[in-house]
Amino acid sequence: MRVLTLIACISKDGGLGKSGQLLWHIPEDMQFFRKTTMGHPVVMGGATYRSIGRPLPKRQNIVLSRLPITDQNILSFTNQTDLENYLSQQDTEVFIIGGASLYQMFMSQADRLYLTEVDGKKPADTFFPSFDHSKYQKTVLRTGESDGTKYQIVEYTKRKP
Ligand SMILES: NC(=O)c1ccc[n+]([C@@H]2O[C@H](COP(=O)([O-])OP(=O)(O)OC[C@H]3O[C@@H](n4cnc5c(N)ncnc54)[C@H](OP(=O)(O)O)[C@@H]3O)[C@@H](O)[C@H]2O)c1
Repeated sequence: MRVLTLIACISKDGGLGKSGQLLWHIPEDMQFFRKTTMGHPVVMGGATYRSIGRPLPKRQNIVLSRLPITDQNILSFTNQTDLENYLSQQDTEVFIIGGASLYQMFMSQADRLYLTEVDGKKPADTFFPSFDHSKYQKTVLRTGESDGTKYQIVEYTKRKP
């Protein structure tokens, strides 16, 4: 059965990025992202793909973009319907890795969220969508501090209706 998971690192106000870049560079968050997504399909929007600049290794990289993508290692879709049809046929955990437009698109379908919640704010131009916390079971996986800023890595699992 497919599991759809959103994974992101967010500021206190939900900030995700600014001018196409990430806001935070927390080594443990990066390691958690790598370890958690390894071997699984990762789905991203065109802006996030351009900001990463290369396919993430050892993962099927899927990009939603209206622009042609020439990299043979990328599976690309030009519209949401084709992407969703493809994802619905998968039998593994699929990770939505951003940015804001992709999180927004898939929030209502998410079975699980992994959020690195940073206890700080920076100017941002893209934000994680708000969601109904009561629909999810919250588990704090890790707490830490990086450059004097505290953070928690939190798993939210959708409660069964
Ligand atoms: N904090 C985190 O965990 C995290 C994670 C990922 C990204 N980010 C940040 O988020 C920001 C980017 O977010 P974003 O929302 O601006 O961009 P995005 O979601 O990465 O990409 C938006 C692009 O996706 C494509 N797209 C979206 N909807 C589409 C549709 N219905 N049909 C076809 N293509 C569609 C288009 O690509 P084309 O323009 O190619 O046509 C659109 O410009 C950056 O600052 C990035 O660093 C943060």
